[in-house]
Amino acid sequence: MTHYRRFSDEELNGTAYRLETKQPQDVIAWGIEHFGTKIALASSFGAEDVVLIDMLSKLAPRTPVFYLDTGKHFPETLATKDRLQERYGITFIRVLPALTLEEQAEKYGDKLWEAEPNLCCKLRKVEPLGEILSTYNAWMTGIRREQAPTRANTKKVEWDEKFQLVKLNPLADWTQEDVWAYIRSHDVVYNPLHDRNYPSIGCSVCTRPVKPGEDPRAGRWSGFSKTECGLHK
Ligand code: ADX
Repeated sequence: MTHYRRFSDEELNGTAYRLETKQPQDVIAWGIEHFGTKIALASSFGAEDVVLIDMLSKLAPRTPVFYLDTGKHFPETLATKDRLQERYGITFIRVLPALTLEEQAEKYGDKLWEAEPNLCCKLRKVEPLGEILSTYNAWMTGIRREQAPTRANTKKVEWDEKFQLVKLNPLADWTQEDVWAYIRSHDVVYNPLHDRNYPSIGCSVCTRPVKPGEDPRAGRWSGFSKTECGLHK
């Protein structure tokens, strides 16, 4: 794990304060300027991530973009990835867990996502994320404040205590409407599941569509008290 601290908390807070009223592109530009090739975007190819991919393609098209391949993504998610690769000419970095699904089943039992979703997320998302982030000095994510109470205090630029690097959340203050207005006006490729009542998309085995009036994240780990998988806490 890297302990890269080129910026003190005070400096990062000052930058976050200065960038708070600026556009996502300004936040991305700050990241590129300060971290060059040592900054990457984490993408699950959801609505926020495709916006960031489109912005990056215009600002800094060689910026690495990685996805955590849990082995349980929806086929629609992987097809969206392929369409994005074609459209933007990017090759996404595929990050794999230490164990295959078969090895995981052998060691922890079948359907770990049902028995112990936290452990499954840890093995298939959080640990692989830690591995890849140890090779960068900053990362960008698509999290937004209105997505969940756990994300309400998200800053556009912050120190990530858990993974020990700078974290940029360029869309922190965007609403869902802002995200969709951008997708429509820039004709961005997006996951077709969003049109089928899946506002928030994770693994197929842990995501269901939401009903009218439900919280956009209600379809994630439905039936469990879990609301975060541990990437952002
Ligand atoms: S999660 O923690 O509940 O799964 P969510 O689906 O809201 O996260 O996505 C928030 C952000 O986390 C995304 O915009 C993306 O930056 C990152 N992220 C989530 N899942 C993945 C993944 N499988 N691979 C890479 N980044 C991801």
